[in-house]
Amino acid sequence: MKPSCLRLRNIVFGHPARPPLFKDLDFAIGAGRIGLIGQNGSGKTTLLQLIMGLYHPEKGRVMLDDRVIQSRADWCYLRRHVGFLFQDADDQLFSPTVIEDVAFGPLNLGDSPEISRRKGERILARLGLAGFENRLTHHLSGGEKKMVALATILVMEPCFLLLDEPTNNLDPITRKRLVTIIAELDIPMVIISHDWDFLSATTSLIYSLEHGHLHRSETACLHTHPHAHPYGDHPHDHGEHDHG
Ligand SMILES: Nc1ncnc2c1ncn2[C@@H]1O[C@H](COP(=O)(O)OP(=O)(O)OP(=O)(O)O)[C@@H](O)[C@H]1O
Ligand SMILES: [Mg+2]
Repeated sequence: MKPSCLRLRNIVFGHPARPPLFKDLDFAIGAGRIGLIGQNGSGKTTLLQLIMGLYHPEKGRVMLDDRVIQSRADWCYLRRHVGFLFQDADDQLFSPTVIEDVAFGPLNLGDSPEISRRKGERILARLGLAGFENRLTHHLSGGEKKMVALATILVMEPCFLLLDEPTNNLDPITRKRLVTIIAELDIPMVIISHDWDFLSATTSLIYSLEHGHLHRSETACLHTHPHAHPYGDHPHDHGEHDHG
């Protein structure tokens, strides 16, 4: 059976030579979509990295349902089910070509090269990246890299998604496509973002991270702002949540 609840329990953690970030942190991801906000350096990325086992807490535990994640096999199990979009796509992509990066996950799980490639092509098309298969990863633009990085995660059909600033580098059209893609995904997720309009379009619950504590608010403070864009004073329409 697929896991349905991902939890951090009583986490104590600080980076080496830095003040403690979390003194007793609890966090649970079950049904629904959580937006995670907080100032630069408040620990949002670190929180997701702790979930993925990229850092290990001094105290406390990571759990998937009732399973405490501690052995190597446990961490493989967690990483198999949790998709993590890095804040910097360059940390995520490592293959020479786009299709090699996107097909890597399925191939690693035992799919044949043909099936892995087909899965990769399908997810690229879904993300508006058809034709990118043979592009050189290190030649992609920042926004293209971000979307390819998302493809490498979605192709794995994760049970949970952790997205660290997914709209960074995205133009308004791609950003809008991302809102639609996220709306179609029926899995629990956490989205870190400084783009509050994006969070209000994609999530139903907001946590704010301040001084190592999570404060919950039901999107209470989220609101849109007037904005400028290059259409100037020509007549134009805005679809819902369209910032183009
Ligand atoms: N490997 C590391 N070693 C030492 N300090 C670190 C390390 N990684 C992060 N930090 C520090 O820990 C704090 C939290 O960093 P983190 O990246 O989690 O913040 P954030 O909330 O994601 O910020 P941003 O909004 O800028 O992405 C920061 O002060 C950062 O400088
Ligand atoms: Mg961060």
